[in-house]
Amino acid sequence: MKLFIQPLFMRASVCMLLAGQLVAVAQSKPGTKARSVSTEAQVRQRAMGLLKQMTVEEKAGQLSQVFMFSAGPAAEKAVSNGALGSVLFVKDPAQINKLQRAAIENSRLHIPLLFGLDVIHGFRTVFPVPIAMAASWDPQMVEGAQAVAAQEARASGVHWTFGPMLDIARDPRWGRIVEGAGEDPYLGSAMAAAQVRGFQGDHLGTPDRIVACAKHFAGYGAAEGGRDYDASEISDSQLWNVYLPPFKAAVDAGTGSVMSAYMDLNGVPATGNRWLVQNVLRDDWHFKGFVVSDADAVKNLKTHGYAVDLKDAAVRALSAGVNMEMALAKPAFAENLPQALKEGKISTAQLDEAVLPILETKIRLGLFENPYVDESRAKQVLEASEHRTEALHAAERSAVLLRNEGTLLPLRPSQYNKIALIGPMGDSKVDTAGPWTFANDVQETVTIAGGLKQVAPAGTTIDFAPGVQISRKFPSPFSGLMGKKESNWTDEQAKQEFDKAVTLAQNSEIAIMVLGEKQDMDGESASRSSLQLPGDQQKLLEAVVSTGKPVILLLMTARPLDLLWASAHVPSILDIWYPGTEGGLAVANLLFGEAVPGGKLPFTWPRNVGQVPLFYAHYSTHEPQNQAKRYWDEESTPLFPFGYGLSYTSFAYSNLHIDRPVVKIGGSVNVSVDIENTGGASGDEVVQLYIHQKSGTSSRPVRELKGFQRVAIAAHQKSTVQFTLTAQDLTYWSSATKSWIQDPAEFDVWTGGDSSALLHDVFRVNGAAQGR
Ligand code: BGC
Repeated sequence: MKLFIQPLFMRASVCMLLAGQLVAVAQSKPGTKARSVSTEAQVRQRAMGLLKQMTVEEKAGQLSQVFMFSAGPAAEKAVSNGALGSVLFVKDPAQINKLQRAAIENSRLHIPLLFGLDVIHGFRTVFPVPIAMAASWDPQMVEGAQAVAAQEARASGVHWTFGPMLDIARDPRWGRIVEGAGEDPYLGSAMAAAQVRGFQGDHLGTPDRIVACAKHFAGYGAAEGGRDYDASEISDSQLWNVYLPPFKAAVDAGTGSVMSAYMDLNGVPATGNRWLVQNVLRDDWHFKGFVVSDADAVKNLKTHGYAVDLKDAAVRALSAGVNMEMALAKPAFAENLPQALKEGKISTAQLDEAVLPILETKIRLGLFENPYVDESRAKQVLEASEHRTEALHAAERSAVLLRNEGTLLPLRPSQYNKIALIGPMGDSKVDTAGPWTFANDVQETVTIAGGLKQVAPAGTTIDFAPGVQISRKFPSPFSGLMGKKESNWTDEQAKQEFDKAVTLAQNSEIAIMVLGEKQDMDGESASRSSLQLPGDQQKLLEAVVSTGKPVILLLMTARPLDLLWASAHVPSILDIWYPGTEGGLAVANLLFGEAVPGGKLPFTWPRNVGQVPLFYAHYSTHEPQNQAKRYWDEESTPLFPFGYGLSYTSFAYSNLHIDRPVVKIGGSVNVSVDIENTGGASGDEVVQLYIHQKSGTSSRPVRELKGFQRVAIAAHQKSTVQFTLTAQDLTYWSSATKSWIQDPAEFDVWTGGDSSALLHDVFRVNGAAQGR
């Protein structure tokens, strides 16, 4: 044991000068077991030493954070006075150093600032959007991508990202589906842990990494009607079994921070919800990091009709367990907590308890020793070519092939010498990079047109026509932050552009269409009431298909769109999401067979908007035999099931083997399955394992994902994949017993390439029900 601890301790330690003494401090993960009690104690001791010297105003300052672009010069003054502990949305190393200097040199206790930014799918190098990365079903790749993002951010002086976003989204009208991992808690938990490890490394304070922030705690993805910011009403069973597991996975992976959400959860605003933030997160899960509110969510406790005024809002958020307030300007914490303390509305112990994990985070990051960033090194890290290679790889692994009739794809070299590229996103850098990117150089983005030109064989002509222009009815409130506004076409121009695109298709040998949504149509404040292709894109698609030329549809979007017509008339459909800096190159590689699609859907694809919410893990309920006919006007089954995705080759599953027909409660079952690449090309398959508990104290979903592995298999080769189902996999939160329980029951097991897998067997769990 000693031997094991020693090297870890050495590796993870920094030397700090504390009151003239040299002290070694391990930077272990909050939220997990202390690596060494004494080193944890030393961090605490140092933080306590500081705390003792702090005035009430300085403490309230450490609990306050502002956006630099809205708080302006007042923020700089507050930093110098020790009245701010953190700022967000500064990404320029020189500006970061300038502000840090104000904190270190001017403030009384020289406590460094913590710089935060939303780094959700890359910093300078933009990776595919998070929903796309989830579609890779490749946690290792995702971890690597977030490690690159962390490295670039940290080299620029950013210490903390507001990610990963872990909100389960089962209603694709909700625009923020783009930031998460989709509908499933198992896949969501795997992506949560991978992202936390990627951002933070194996402990907080790992060089070149940043602090993660699991957001938005909790239930934000269940916004009523898919309308962003609207309230969520979530049953206990859904909360514990579906919405909370990714957060628990992030805490177990050691996330340094958690963000409290905007909306009301079951009638209590998440940011003032003591049950959520204190009882679940801290008492039950032993989270030891700090909680930051979402932007202005503390002040909004008043607008929710919950707090009386801003002072009450500050008191109630702090009392719920929120440590730091993120505010556009003038934080309610900094402005009200000192007075609230005087009035006895909060106690000194409460205030100290909130400040401690923030000071500890700064200590663990080594900011007291190294508060500044090396401005000359930043450029070199940001321009690393290996980062672009990782982004390319990520975009290739994220694409999902939805349809490939007559194996139109991959295109054989020189098969088509005249290619028409059509669609509003076909040559758009800002859309290819995707939403919510703030530190990239958008000019570096390789568009689909750019990628095709690089990869297509010499002599191929690629002509581009946007065909239509699309825009939101209500502009995005964030349009000022990203991208340039295009000037609108006149009606006459719109007609000409439409005709030009159709004529181009007519005069070409093949049409590649890039349709979907502009980047500002997905994300925060980007919910929709429809899933149709926006604007005249459907009309354009139908017109191009009617030319009789083969058509490949590339979908650039984050949500499932209404493809009912396309899925019957367009031979090849590839979901490319918002693929990032190297997106165009990745797409061209996929089209020309330099890469093979292997991604799978992280959500169920509905036929039309009237079906939502639609997810695979529903209950059997009454008359399950009529499940497909729940509506009289349209099938109630999905267009594409959760976990679905094709390849340029085919796979056959056989030999599902469960190592024991009966297992005692608490025991594990091993499952294996053979998978053969039956086509002529090498390819990846995501082998998925689903279970169904056939009886119990509560009804259980018809299927639940409980294992997956992405495997590469060469043509005509076979591979065996093993899974272990543990007692934890078979335990769930029962609404009947109001507790975690493992029931004795029979279980179905399926393995295959999506959630409609047919290869099936059963096993039984015997014994008395067991709680956790
Ligand atoms: C979003 C958060 C984000 C924050 C800072 C809020 O509006 O909900 O996810 O981290 O802004 O940009």
